[in-house]
Amino acid sequence: MAPRLYVNIDHIATLRQQRGTRYPDPVVAAGLCELAGADGITVHLREDRRHIQERDVRLLRQTVRGVFNLEMAATDDMLAIALDVKPDFCTLVPEKRAERTTEGGLNVGVEAGTALGRVIGGLRGAGVGVSLFIDPDPEAVARSHALGVNIVELHTGYYCDAAPRSPDAARQLARLEGAARAAGNLGLRLGAGHGLDCANVGPVAALPFLEELNIGHGLVARAVMLGLDRAVSELRAAISEGARSVLTT
Ligand code: PXP
Repeated sequence: MAPRLYVNIDHIATLRQQRGTRYPDPVVAAGLCELAGADGITVHLREDRRHIQERDVRLLRQTVRGVFNLEMAATDDMLAIALDVKPDFCTLVPEKRAERTTEGGLNVGVEAGTALGRVIGGLRGAGVGVSLFIDPDPEAVARSHALGVNIVELHTGYYCDAAPRSPDAARQLARLEGAARAAGNLGLRLGAGHGLDCANVGPVAALPFLEELNIGHGLVARAVMLGLDRAVSELRAAISEGARSVLTT
């Protein structure tokens, strides 16, 4: 069966924050994505609030009809928000202020695991599912399992950054496959995401045990391009109508 699609709508909010307007509203966009067939909605509430705001998260909890996945850093402040909102599951991601987007998978090493374990325990204790966004590495999968999560999301960015059909792309896909098998064999629910679009998603969708995909930037970029034609026609019509009405008054 094809994996579920969770649409990441962060960059609808990026456009809104850029001008401080009320539009485009990610909450409205989430409804449209679900009407179009998305199985769920993903947002990343960053500590610097550069795109998604708390208001969006709280409204989305009330309006999303499918699965609602909240991506966040493993901090006490974010834990408090997540425990209040109670999304269907939280994806813990590494977060750096200066980065443009999430750069690598979480550090699930022994030391980092203690801080992660506290947040994982808090969420699971409240009945919220927990996913860790990790590099496609069987060792990281095993450590995630040991930390008590029920889901892992494999970072597909390395595969997406490789030149299409190159030996490096094949190598990165093989890495993803090895990590996917490790997750499936441990009984973890498996997701993947980062950098995916129509051109590169096919081989990822075919990964063994894969149940869900989180896709955002490429999809929103494509929607802008596909929608420009209609938006320009609409504006032309409004301009013509305005000009006509001025001439006739
Ligand atoms: N999964 C995780 C954990 C992410 O942090 C992101 C980016 O916010 C995505 C998936 C989606 O990546 P993209 O926007 O490149 O599709």
